[in-house]
Amino acid sequence: MNDPIRDYPKSIRNKFKELFEQEALIIRSPGRINLIGEHLDYNMGFVLPAAINKAIWLGIQKRDDNMINMYSLDYDDNYRSNIHDITPSGKLWPDYILGVVDQIKKSHSLKHGFNLVFGGDIPAGAGLSSSAALECAMAYALNELFGLDYEKIDLVKIGQAAENEFVGVKCGIMDQFASIFGKKEHLIRLDCRSLEYVYVPFHAKDIKILLFDTRVKHSLADSAYNQRREQCEKGVSLVQEYHPEVKSLRDANQVMLDSYVKTVDETVYRRCTYVVSEIKRLLNGCEDLEKDDLISFGKRMFQTHAGLKDLYEVSCSELDLLVDLVKDNPDVIGARMMGGGFGGCTINLVKSEAIRGLIKKVSDAYLSKTGTEMLVYEVEIEEGTRIS
Ligand code: GLA
Repeated sequence: MNDPIRDYPKSIRNKFKELFEQEALIIRSPGRINLIGEHLDYNMGFVLPAAINKAIWLGIQKRDDNMINMYSLDYDDNYRSNIHDITPSGKLWPDYILGVVDQIKKSHSLKHGFNLVFGGDIPAGAGLSSSAALECAMAYALNELFGLDYEKIDLVKIGQAAENEFVGVKCGIMDQFASIFGKKEHLIRLDCRSLEYVYVPFHAKDIKILLFDTRVKHSLADSAYNQRREQCEKGVSLVQEYHPEVKSLRDANQVMLDSYVKTVDETVYRRCTYVVSEIKRLLNGCEDLEKDDLISFGKRMFQTHAGLKDLYEVSCSELDLLVDLVKDNPDVIGARMMGGGFGGCTINLVKSEAIRGLIKKVSDAYLSKTGTEMLVYEVEIEEGTRIS
């Protein structure tokens, strides 16, 4: 498993030398948080993510033959393949890498195989997008190694397509975008329809971003995720019967949902209602940030949680408990579940001077109510994917 205190760049460099007797090119590719705007990317709305100080490091070098030799430091596991025969591995981690090779082969014929070692301190399954970080590291690495001349946005799309087509999770573009485009001390306000983005400064000295990890990993999370996406698409098609100009929930409004979805499919109606309100909430939240009104922004985070819990139904009792435990605490500006859902972390904006006491209080309560020790990550906003 990943080790939060390991010196990954050094371990990877050394392991690479030991296994392949070569010097590796090392790429660092970060995980992400998202302040507000959940499940909006595939609905063509906006999101507000940032890359963080937890990352995958990937060491890579060309081979003279066609072989692909990969080694995962954290799983102490290897996998071999061939650039002319890219098929799913039957395990999970090699598929994030092979999926990227598969995508790149659609536009380039690769003439060499490669050796690869990777590992990192992004906890897997915690909703911090370790898989997107690995895909982005891989796309970035092959671009460098083989001089493929891709733009940053191409690398994002390659990572997302690998996940959609090879791994089979129909994720949106947020995670890969945040990993590649991350900027220190800035959030990214991304319009997922046009892919236009602006960097929003975020470096409030007296506020820290704390993630509380439930350590719950829901085995049905991927299928439930794909199902939510289908339900949103169904909502769009119901509205389209009357408003053909509506191409996604970004173009829909509550009146349309009330008129054309509510009586046809109550579940789809609740899903779409969440999305339409969250799009508005994100835009209002960005105005709060412009005005430096974190108090108002924080309230919206709690509202997002309520929507994800009651309407979108992607929360779970452990996430709800962690939000409930901080809800009335004046030191917590805002909190909500983060990412796809069904486990993983809550994101909390907390007054700096209060974090030690808060962590103790919430950890103790979580342990006594669930029998599980939660994990805590104090995150900083960092640069996106690059050579380490
Ligand atoms: C996962 C997906 C993203 C996004 C979030 C929810 O992280 O990979 O594309 O949909 O869930 O906001």
